[in-house]
Amino acid sequence: TDISKIRNFSIIAHIDHGKSTLADRLIQATGGLTEREMSAQVLDNMDIERERGITIKAQTVRLTWKGHELNLMDTPGHVDFAYEVSRSLAACEGALLVVDSAQGVEAQTLANVYASIEQDHEIVPVINKIDLPAADPEGVKQEIEEIIGLDASEAVLASAKTGIGIEAVLDAIVAKIPPPRGDKDAPLKAMLVDSWYDPYLGVVILVRVIDGSLRKGMAIKFMQAGTTHLVDRVGCFTPKRTDLPELTTGEIGFITAQIKEVAETRVGDTITDAKRPAVAALPGFKEVQPVVFCGLFPTDAAEFEKLRDSLYKLRLNDASFSFEMETSAALGFGFRCGFLGLLHLEIIQERLTREYDLDLITTAPSVVYQIHLSHSKTEDAQTIELHNPADMPDPNRIESIEEPWIEATIYTPDEYLGAILKLCQDRRGIQKNLTYVGTGAHQRAQVTYELPLNEVVFDFYDRLKSITRGYASFDYHQIGYRTGDLVKMSILVNEEPVDALSMITHRGTAEQRGRGMCERLKELIPRHLFKIPIQAAIGGKVIARETISALRKDVTAKCYGGDATRKRKLLEKQKKGKAKMREYGSVSIPQEAFIAALRMG
Ligand code: GTP
Repeated sequence: TDISKIRNFSIIAHIDHGKSTLADRLIQATGGLTEREMSAQVLDNMDIERERGITIKAQTVRLTWKGHELNLMDTPGHVDFAYEVSRSLAACEGALLVVDSAQGVEAQTLANVYASIEQDHEIVPVINKIDLPAADPEGVKQEIEEIIGLDASEAVLASAKTGIGIEAVLDAIVAKIPPPRGDKDAPLKAMLVDSWYDPYLGVVILVRVIDGSLRKGMAIKFMQAGTTHLVDRVGCFTPKRTDLPELTTGEIGFITAQIKEVAETRVGDTITDAKRPAVAALPGFKEVQPVVFCGLFPTDAAEFEKLRDSLYKLRLNDASFSFEMETSAALGFGFRCGFLGLLHLEIIQERLTREYDLDLITTAPSVVYQIHLSHSKTEDAQTIELHNPADMPDPNRIESIEEPWIEATIYTPDEYLGAILKLCQDRRGIQKNLTYVGTGAHQRAQVTYELPLNEVVFDFYDRLKSITRGYASFDYHQIGYRTGDLVKMSILVNEEPVDALSMITHRGTAEQRGRGMCERLKELIPRHLFKIPIQAAIGGKVIARETISALRKDVTAKCYGGDATRKRKLLEKQKKGKAKMREYGSVSIPQEAFIAALRMG
């Protein structure tokens, strides 16, 4: 294709502002699919994504509009996938900024716009949902200018739902977004944007050609990985998979090259011609590091192998999560898993449950701590990374502990501000800024806080959602490590520590958390024939305590009167329940008790 006719763009938006709906409309308007072929949302191809309305895997669709080739790159909208967003944006020259005309600018609108500006994008504002009675396009234009500093005078007014303004959006893409630049005669240089596993094709690689061209049958080299492969398929998605003879300078498309595992491909790697290599590689991308860890255990120990196989399968498509085997006295054999964030954790957990039919126990999420140790008789002073509270070293050797901090931006209607400030304060937050944006009914507070990440992984989203009835929006990025007064708190049931319940917490909040956990366990653990102490302790010091009083006598015999089938059913149920009990210094704790205790953090 003539490079001057190519436009590569992304759609950026806050969650729910209509990105996927708009993408579908653009596909439909350009004839990529007939009405009948349009499923509800063609770009979100995983069930979970559809249900949650979020986009995880970036995909690219090629559209044809008035003699131009438009490559629309889908990007995920959530904070946990900020990295996926930035690498997709790097393959484009511009972006459609979709803002809901009834909601205005939200936290992720801003985060995404900044990422786009960083890539030197031409940004085309699209004010969506103008069909809504509450739509206030003029107010939103003003917000875009005021908060983001973009000229919104030529913003396109659209309704992705009813189809208003869709052609104007396509015309604006052609008119405003610059064509790519590149040298078609230079040796091949292409960026590896994304890769995923397809059961029929093997690993599929999404590429953006910078210089030269990429043809079927070509021997290519991954400059960073140092590997060579033979290209066996080249093509694009319209959104149907379409094979092509080549991808030329400036184009985005896919290739396959008989690669077995996604792990062999590195996002950001430079692909070049093995016979005529490019002189220099592209600057490349940073490696993504998991920031949140938790243990995943099968409820039924017999499902351990199945869990392992399922994790391997999931990893085929998502190289950003990690796992290694872990054993716990309370929960048996399982895996310690690392994720990009809490949402990422939830998605993996949900896919395991739903697609792989596994019943799982998840331990409390933990962040990565840097622990500075003094030297001992046998070891030098050193710094270790701690992913699991159970591996906390001997407190006597700990010089200091550092924890990751984030900067969070929250947008909220004024009425919830007080509750939000209190929540952030309770979570050791440091307020950095508080301003108001918009006017009249549209006015909202924008508040910025620095918070320790470990306070955020601990049910922060849920609390924020519930205290603001879903009206606040939230975004964050990491700002580095800081020293904190952190301790490991253990939970003891009948004098025995329960490893799965231990956690690292700030000394100041340890007592409150310990007390909460003891109270919950008291409710959750059934009474026995003897008294059971439940304690929270730091080192050897008990900071909270509850006692489950003893049953006077064995009353179970009385419970089962009545007809025989009912009795049999009860017995079966009980047998099943027994299998899931864990023994703690002669105390049986039903697995449900762990789950409930962990759920409530
Ligand atoms: P994520 O994938 O979660 O980032 O959301 P999204 O930005 O892709 O939003 P999506 O397209 O899923 O739309 C969110 C909701 O808004 C859906 O219920 C859409 O039907 C609705 N919606 C999208 N565009 C319009 C519009 O122009 N008018 C109205 N009234 N509703 C719309």
